[in-house]
Amino acid sequence: MASGMSSSSSMPSHCSSLPLIALLLLCSQLLQVATAREQYHEFVIQEASVTRLCRQRSIMTVNGQFPGPALEVNEGDSLIVRVINRGGYNVTVHWHGVRQMRTGWSDGPEFVTQCPIRPGGSYTYRFTVAGQEGTLWWHAHSSWLRATVHGALIIRPRAGVAAYPFNTASKPPAREIPVILGEWWDMNPIDVVRTATRTGAAPNISDALTVNGQPGDLYRCSSSKDTATFTVKSGETNLLRFINAALNTELFVSIAGHTMTVVAADASYTKPYSTSVVMIAPGQTTDVLVTFDQPPGRYYLAARAYASAQGVPFDNTTTTAVFEYDDGSTSSAPMMPTLPAYNDTAAATTFTTSLRGLRKAELPSRVDESLFFTVGVGLFNCSTGQSCGGPNNTRFAASINNVSFVLPSTVSILQAHYHANTADEVFTDDFPANPPVQFDYTAQNVSRALWQPVPGTKVYRLKYGAAVQVVLQGTNIFAGENHPIHIHGYDFYILGEGFGNFDAVTDTAKLNMDDPPMRNTVGVPVNGWAVIRFVADNPGVWLMHCHLDVHITWGLAMAFLVEDGVGELQSLQAPPPDLPIC
Ligand code: C2O
Repeated sequence: MASGMSSSSSMPSHCSSLPLIALLLLCSQLLQVATAREQYHEFVIQEASVTRLCRQRSIMTVNGQFPGPALEVNEGDSLIVRVINRGGYNVTVHWHGVRQMRTGWSDGPEFVTQCPIRPGGSYTYRFTVAGQEGTLWWHAHSSWLRATVHGALIIRPRAGVAAYPFNTASKPPAREIPVILGEWWDMNPIDVVRTATRTGAAPNISDALTVNGQPGDLYRCSSSKDTATFTVKSGETNLLRFINAALNTELFVSIAGHTMTVVAADASYTKPYSTSVVMIAPGQTTDVLVTFDQPPGRYYLAARAYASAQGVPFDNTTTTAVFEYDDGSTSSAPMMPTLPAYNDTAAATTFTTSLRGLRKAELPSRVDESLFFTVGVGLFNCSTGQSCGGPNNTRFAASINNVSFVLPSTVSILQAHYHANTADEVFTDDFPANPPVQFDYTAQNVSRALWQPVPGTKVYRLKYGAAVQVVLQGTNIFAGENHPIHIHGYDFYILGEGFGNFDAVTDTAKLNMDDPPMRNTVGVPVNGWAVIRFVADNPGVWLMHCHLDVHITWGLAMAFLVEDGVGELQSLQAPPPDLPIC
């Protein structure tokens, strides 16, 4: 098996020292021979001891690293990653945003596409990264392990960095810096979620936000030696690859004194958009160019919450990292940027509605499946024998179209679907296309009678090739909130978003059919809606869920079952022999 561990294939340096014609000829030949490669990696899930905020903790990691190793591929490459579980918990790894064409067995969500890898077990993920360029990431998809089990997945053009569409005068960015935003608990996050699941109450909020695993200078026991520091050169343009790996916190990000130009989001290119603040929700990535053209010195990158749910506790701390000019003094205190207030929905909206696809969208003109999904939180009434630590003796819940998603426990949904004889006992395919009751979804006081979802393991069945439109409608049940809705196995166009209830006539007329952004995670505005569209060209079972882990824990999820089309190339592959059993 080939083991091409090389990273980026940039243009060979001798290209620049040849006469122009020869250069063009030689380099274009080199570009053509840039063929797809295969990379093999081993991910050993293991505990590591780290100290944050003056406390030592044992955390789950990949290969002892936190954040985990960055994978760097060129578009078209294949990855073979053997995950060996030497930790004490069940684990799976999800390749967030990778389309996984026909390779659903390698997608990773526990009990959706596979049974978990038990302690002592292993499983090899095999997939090709095709048709996507930019920043994705990987993370554990079992309980709350992804708090520390995550890392970047960087996809460069097959022809190398010279082929970035955002290069200025054909010059690629001088350097590329992955900036992983995360969330830190003093406690073991697995214990945090287990306690919440037992009591029915909301889980504890995190104790810090982090940049590349470090909280930065503004926390107790702050120590600048532990702050993420990036050295930059005057005049250079760098590419920052933001990843929001936080469990439950949408974030505003700014850099003191510097403008950011967004060029991609979720591994799809955007029209360049210049801004002083980025809003990034868990699950999302955003690539920005920054030109370091300010007086040499030290500048903070800072991030803090965009918390749209009124009255709901959130981590209101601020994490920082430092950009340090290599020709500046390192003694001065870094400059601090101004960030929007935590409840500045206008700032969040300005950002998300400013993103446009780089090219004209390839949208099907027809819609075969027109779906309307309400997304929101709810409360289960207390039944005997349960602990009900939620408001007024309830348990917290969340749902899509009032179905609160329950994972199977004996086999994954994908396995049950593939071996159709067992399917009936594992899931049903009656997920509703519309909410069971229509009401004023975003009203100030939604009737309490509508607060209680129904648990279920339901999928929505799609024919291969169906053009699917989903109106995602936030509800004001318990508390309206911006929900980052992620779909596995697909990228989708975001045709529009707005506040209040979606109006099929007036809002449809305003959808952007020209250059909508393509993403894998859409922030559905607080007490508002978003419209997405995709073509169901990838057979398998694909989870759709809120990427706030607190909400997926409460059931804010469903799955699409996309049937096989005609022939092998439109059909799910056979399961690999080492697929874990439950
Ligand atoms: Cu980033 Cu279902 O996950």
